[in-house]
Amino acid sequence: MKRILVTGGLGFIGSHTVVELQNEGFEVIIIDDLSNTSIKVLDSITEITGTKPDFHQIDLRIKNDVKTFFDNNKVDGIIHFAAFKAVGESMYKPLDYYENNLGALVYLLQEMRDRKLDNFIFSSSCTVYGQADELPITEKAPVKTAESVYGSTKQIGEEILKNASNAHNLNIIALRYFNPIGAHESVKIGELPLGVPQNLIPFITQTAAGIRKELSVFGDDYNTPDGTAIRDYIHVVDLAKAHIAALQRLMNKNNKKSFEFFNVGTGKGSSVLEIINAFEKVNNLKLNYKIVDRREGDITAAYADTTIANKELGWKTEKSLEEALESAWKWQLQNN
Ligand code: WQD
Repeated sequence: MKRILVTGGLGFIGSHTVVELQNEGFEVIIIDDLSNTSIKVLDSITEITGTKPDFHQIDLRIKNDVKTFFDNNKVDGIIHFAAFKAVGESMYKPLDYYENNLGALVYLLQEMRDRKLDNFIFSSSCTVYGQADELPITEKAPVKTAESVYGSTKQIGEEILKNASNAHNLNIIALRYFNPIGAHESVKIGELPLGVPQNLIPFITQTAAGIRKELSVFGDDYNTPDGTAIRDYIHVVDLAKAHIAALQRLMNKNNKKSFEFFNVGTGKGSSVLEIINAFEKVNNLKLNYKIVDRREGDITAAYADTTIANKELGWKTEKSLEEALESAWKWQLQNN
């Protein structure tokens, strides 16, 4: 049985990917520092699949702890989710973001280099494109100067991966996520934002649940059909399955270059108002919201051209936006 290390494996995307890995017959080892999730997620994963993943609470910023882990554990692949991911927070804690999102990445790659480990999947983001000049966004779109420290950690992370891959013959794939949303159909795992949600969907579900008074729609004066900003919202389970496809590409040695990257989205853009309307319709409720000023750093529109990912990964999205919004609401109700 192939053993896969999943860092950040108790997080939102990480936990859904662990479930899909176990469903595919992989043995999973999770490293998580529990800074942005709960140990309860480990039990939830076990309830879904019937197999408890091996779990190590490790802070990947501590080089010696990373080394000790690899002294005691042999792995056939690594999926690296562990990182800080709050765009706004990254602007006033840049050094924490560079230390955690890049320092830990370097330590993992050093262990791979020294122990001849291979097959590394990196959690990247469409943020690297900034506001793309053309839509939908292909992998040929230029990487633009990041609008946030968080975005720059993803850009620099990809540079580190490219150079490490070339110098040490490591096979690596970066997946550039669009906007992950929704929850597993079991309603046992989902998005667990600690504190005030930064992202749209958890703020919507908390507003619908009465935890938040109303949703602020950040601007309706964008150059879009209804004036609100457009994003590509992908069901987290579809996103999780893209990681399995990428890992199998590497393990089957089907990759064409040692470092590759793919856009992972639905290929469809939805505006904030379209999301609100769809959420109200599928969950049969009315949402309390108001239009306010734009949020600093937000772009007008981003949605993926999924041609390359579909072809090269043999992967495509299967779940609808409505399924994602319904599952997000069910997850919120479960967590109330
Ligand atoms: C989506 C849309 C907001 C909240 C970021 C990162 C990306 C990834 C996902 C980590 C925008 C609008 C939001 C609200 C609103 N991060 N909005 N009211 O900014 O597209 O992407 O989060 O994995 O890398 O860049 O996602 O959910 O914050 O915003 O109107 O209360 O919803 O303006 O148009 P974003 P988001």
